[in-house]
Amino acid sequence: MIQAAGLTKKFGPITAVNNVTFTVSTGEVLGFLGPNGAGKSTTLRMLAGYLRPSAGTIAIDGIDMAAGPIAVKKKIGYMPETTPLYREMTSREYLLFVGEAHGLADAEGRVEQVIETANLAAIRHQLTGTISKGYRSRLNFAAAIIHDPPVLLLDEPTDGLDPNQKNEIRKLIKDLSRNKAIIVSTHILEEVEAMCSRIIIVSEGSIVLDGTANDLRRCVPGGRAAVLAIRPQDKSAAERALGCALSPLGAGPAGCERFRLNTDERPARLSARLAEAGIACEEACCWEAPLDDAFRHLTRTTE
Ligand SMILES: Nc1ncnc2c1ncn2[C@@H]1O[C@H](COP(=O)(O)OP(=O)(O)OP(=O)(O)O)[C@@H](O)[C@H]1O
Ligand SMILES: [Mg+2]
Repeated sequence: MIQAAGLTKKFGPITAVNNVTFTVSTGEVLGFLGPNGAGKSTTLRMLAGYLRPSAGTIAIDGIDMAAGPIAVKKKIGYMPETTPLYREMTSREYLLFVGEAHGLADAEGRVEQVIETANLAAIRHQLTGTISKGYRSRLNFAAAIIHDPPVLLLDEPTDGLDPNQKNEIRKLIKDLSRNKAIIVSTHILEEVEAMCSRIIIVSEGSIVLDGTANDLRRCVPGGRAAVLAIRPQDKSAAERALGCALSPLGAGPAGCERFRLNTDERPARLSARLAEAGIACEEACCWEAPLDDAFRHLTRTTE
């Protein structure tokens, strides 16, 4: 549904986006991550047709952006990083304005639907200049989906929201993803697990990872490991039986100590191998690096 090929954007001497290629299918929620200044917003602005790429092509639903920009834009709902609202309009008037600008046949009906979807009833008659930040985000979200586009580009849609509001927006995005291709740019790694089927990490304008959250963890040396609890005096025997080093993590249950070992082998299998060697294992589980660690590892050149 979304195809970007060799996308590049230069601002004078700065290469903000450098030869970025990816596709997003209907039903996918792509988490677009990267440090500040990595080129996320610039990429989304190009995909939304707001910025002309210096090089590369964009196709939405098979239509080339350069050849049919208006046809392409009809298929896109874009929530920018910051949206200037008409402060003197009420929320409902603003949505009606956006709906009519899209040329919707039943703009009033769609406004009512998105007011319900984005839970905006309480502020429908309030001036947009006076609504709270959470409502402002939800109003912008409602404006982005008013024409029911098959593609959604959301630039940090949960930025600055409280945990309840974040959760609501994430749920909305997940619900909508069944029949849309969605890109969500975010700094919040827990969001990736909560709603994204795939992630792309950009650093200094280039893609450094395209995969799942687990692929991200695997990028950290020792990002996926196992934890075993055994008696401290069995450590050397266990290392010989398993063929790898055990690093102490601290006290475990029943007088045991917990050890970490870097392996992809399943904990139950490790514990069975220890049992064969006559070593009791009180606990065996997986250890996964926090996504934050993996993110820092992958993008540390820009720190
Ligand atoms: N209109 C512009 N003119 C000049 N430089 C720009 C312009 N827009 C963006 N840049 C530069 O391009 C680079 C990428 O910016 P961009 O806003 O895409 O990053 P980002 O990943 O969205 O960052 P953040 O996480 O802070 O939102 C930055 O170095 C930025 O200063
Ligand atoms: Mg940005």
